[in-house]
Amino acid sequence: MKIGFGYDIHKLVKSKPLYLGGVRIPSNKGLLAHSDGDVLLHSICDSLLGAVGLGDIGMHFPNSDRKYKNISSLILLEKTYNLLKKQGYKIENIDSMIVAQEPKISPYIDKMKTNISKILKSQNISIKATTNEGVGDIGKGKAICAYTVCLIQRKNV
Ligand code: CDP
Ligand code: ZN
Repeated sequence: MKIGFGYDIHKLVKSKPLYLGGVRIPSNKGLLAHSDGDVLLHSICDSLLGAVGLGDIGMHFPNSDRKYKNISSLILLEKTYNLLKKQGYKIENIDSMIVAQEPKISPYIDKMKTNISKILKSQNISIKATTNEGVGDIGKGKAICAYTVCLIQRKNV
C-alpha cells in the first residue's frame, strides 16, 4: 500500500463558472485556471500521482499546453487513474477537504462523490468542506483550496 497527499488552490474571479468535483455549483464567482479550475479534482490527482511517485499534475498536464485549455478536470482525473492502473494499483480510499468561505458545498457533495467514484472505481470516497472562518484570502472569498490524502493498493498481491 502507498499513501499520497495533494493540495491545490485557485483564485475566485467573476464571470467564471464554479466547478468542484466535476459539479457545476451556482455562484457569482468561479475558479481562475487554464483548465476548469477544479481544485478538488486537482488535489485528488496530485495525491494519486504522489502515491506512485509520478510527479505532479503540472508535469503531466502542463498549463502551457493548449489541449488542456478549459478541459474538464474529470478527464484529467481519468487520465491520472489510467496511469495508476498501468502501474498495477487500485484505489483503497480518498479523503478530501475543500476550504471555501462560500458558497455552501454540502448540498453538492453526494454528486461529487458519484462523479469521482465512477472514475476511480472505488466507493470509499470522502469529501468534506469547511470555511476558513473569515481568515486570510480564502476567508475573504478570494480563493478556494483543497487537500487530499489517498491510500492505494497494488492489485493481485
Ligand atoms: O469549523 P467547521 O468546519 O466545523 O465550521 P464551518 O467552517 O463553519 O463549517 C460548518 C459546516 O458547513 C461544515 O462542516 C461543512 O459541512 C459545511 N460547509 C459547507 O457545506 N460549505 C462550505 N463552503 C463550508 C462549510
Ligand atoms: Zn488546479
